[in-house]
Amino acid sequence: MEAAPRGDARARTPAHPAAHADDTACPREDTRVDLVAALVRARSPEPPGPDTPAGTAVRDWPGAALPLPPAAPGELDLHALLRLSLAAADASGRLRPAPSAGALHPVDAELVVGARCSLPPGRYGYDPVRHRVHRTGREPADTPPGVRAQLTVTAQRTASHYGHRAWPLLLLDTGHSAAALLLAARALGAEPEADLDGGDHGPLAAVHIPAPDRSAHPAPERVRTPGHRRADAPVPAELLERRSDPPPLTGTPPPDVLRQILGTAAEAGRGAVHWCAAVGGPRPGLVELAADTTTLRTRASGEARPTLAAWAAGQAWLARAGAVLLAHGCPDGSDTPTIRRAHLRAGFAVHLAHVAARRHGLAARPVGSWQRADLGAALGGPPGRDWIVHGLALGTRHAHEESTT
Ligand SMILES: Cc1cc2nc3c(=O)[nH]c(=O)nc-3n(C[C@H](O)[C@H](O)[C@H](O)COP(=O)(O)O)c2cc1C
Repeated sequence: MEAAPRGDARARTPAHPAAHADDTACPREDTRVDLVAALVRARSPEPPGPDTPAGTAVRDWPGAALPLPPAAPGELDLHALLRLSLAAADASGRLRPAPSAGALHPVDAELVVGARCSLPPGRYGYDPVRHRVHRTGREPADTPPGVRAQLTVTAQRTASHYGHRAWPLLLLDTGHSAAALLLAARALGAEPEADLDGGDHGPLAAVHIPAPDRSAHPAPERVRTPGHRRADAPVPAELLERRSDPPPLTGTPPPDVLRQILGTAAEAGRGAVHWCAAVGGPRPGLVELAADTTTLRTRASGEARPTLAAWAAGQAWLARAGAVLLAHGCPDGSDTPTIRRAHLRAGFAVHLAHVAARRHGLAARPVGSWQRADLGAALGGPPGRDWIVHGLALGTRHAHEESTT
């Protein structure tokens, strides 16, 4: 199903009944899914079951499929924004700027378009495979200039393969897609804002991208109007070329690079989860950012990677990964907003860390299939308080180099 290794840990258990309901008719699936129960079940040792149908690759938006017109001067270029973030580059829909567990791509985007965009104001559903939009209605009266991309999921897609383990992955995928939109907007010179802390109704996540400010006279040190990218903004090619590197991802990243990537993740994670990295090399162990964030400190000594490989449903290659960045937290008994936030933020942060890692020349691959991964208990703490939520495997050597050495 995907270019992932045999170990890409996908459960084969029948989906949670709620996740099999009519996915496309509801704007927000987790209003009907008990996330607390879904997470308990996802973390359980419940055995795998057979795959079920994934359904169509694109949500069945109403009305005609409309092309995205070119942007006039002073307009936010929605064609470029979506090409750099969510659009599929192949007819099968697999190759996209945003990664997805099992390449199943369950995230749906609806655009609430205000003034000064390359589409007339209104609401539009996005078809990422054909790169077309479907007008779904009027925009709310108070819609500001620019676009708000609202993200929901078609759970059936991910549940078709991961069954009862789908919901953590659906939230992680949504976080990755929000980060992809954020980076695309920055590449276009905009100053986007991601909302990953939404309430119980509405989309799982949203990214607001303001329209170009035609009246702005920016100070030289803060030139951020479209066409003037911030210093750390990605270039379009970085986003279009992002891929999950195939294993093995060996070679321990230099400590300073690891510190910077941990810093990127921790900043983007905004306290919703904690971060550390398992490293191999001569002094294997778990490292984390020191309180001053300028150095790494050892959290625990000893080889952790084989345990991580077992916890990631036996993805054996993880035992040899140069480093495995880990988002952890989300204790048992967490309420729905806490579960949602931890997973959305972890996906969002791992995506930014992934792009940052590739900028440092590292190979990187997200790892989201964690089962019974009680990091806190393994480190001698009480059980159920500190679970691995997401991961990013890192290596200095790419697979093609590995095969020639
Ligand atoms: C939330 C999430 C979890 C993932 N988990 C794994 C995993 O456990 N093992 C793995 O090999 N790849 C994993 N991946 C990587 C996907 O397999 C990959 O994104 C997908 O095949 C598409 O390929 P691409 O990222 O190169 O576009 C994960 C990706 C995401 C976004």
